[in-house]
Amino acid sequence: MTRVLVINGPNLGRLGVREPDIYGSTTHDELAELCRATGMRLGLDVDVRQSDSEAELVAWLHEAADARTAVILNAGALTHYSYALRDALAQVPSPTVEVHLSNPAAREEFRHTSVIAGVVTGSISGFGINSYVLALHAVADRLAS
Ligand code: DQA
Repeated sequence: MTRVLVINGPNLGRLGVREPDIYGSTTHDELAELCRATGMRLGLDVDVRQSDSEAELVAWLHEAADARTAVILNAGALTHYSYALRDALAQVPSPTVEVHLSNPAAREEFRHTSVIAGVVTGSISGFGINSYVLALHAVADRLAS
C-alpha cells in the first residue's frame, strides 16, 4: 500500500478541547483514526503524526522527501510564518496538500497569509475534519493519475 504522511503542527494535539467552536469537538486520536480508516478505503497506508516542535516537523518532511512519501500538512500557526517548513515542504517530490480545519482567509488578518501555499500541490480549508478526508481523496486521485 502507498504510504501517506499526515502531519499536524502546533496545538493540534489539543483538538477536542481547543476552541471547539472553531476547531470542533473531535480529538486528535479520533482524527487520526478517521484518516487511517479513510486511507484504508482508498488503498493508502496513512501515518498520522503531531508535534508542537518546528524542528520535528522539518525532520518529518525531510523523511518524506527522501522516501518520496505524499504529505498532508496542517502546519497550524506555522503556516503563516515558517519559511523553514516551506523550504522543507518544497523538497517533497510527491503530492502535498495543505489542510486547515477552519478557513483562515475568513479569520484574523495574520491568518490570511500562508507561506506554504506556494509549494504545495493544493490546499483545502474550512471543512473541519472533512478537510483531511478531502485531502486524502485528492492525494489518492493524484497518485492514481
Ligand atoms: C489551523 C488554522 C491556523 O491559523 C491556526 O493557527 C491553527 C489551526 C486550522 O486547522 O484551521 O492552529 O491550521
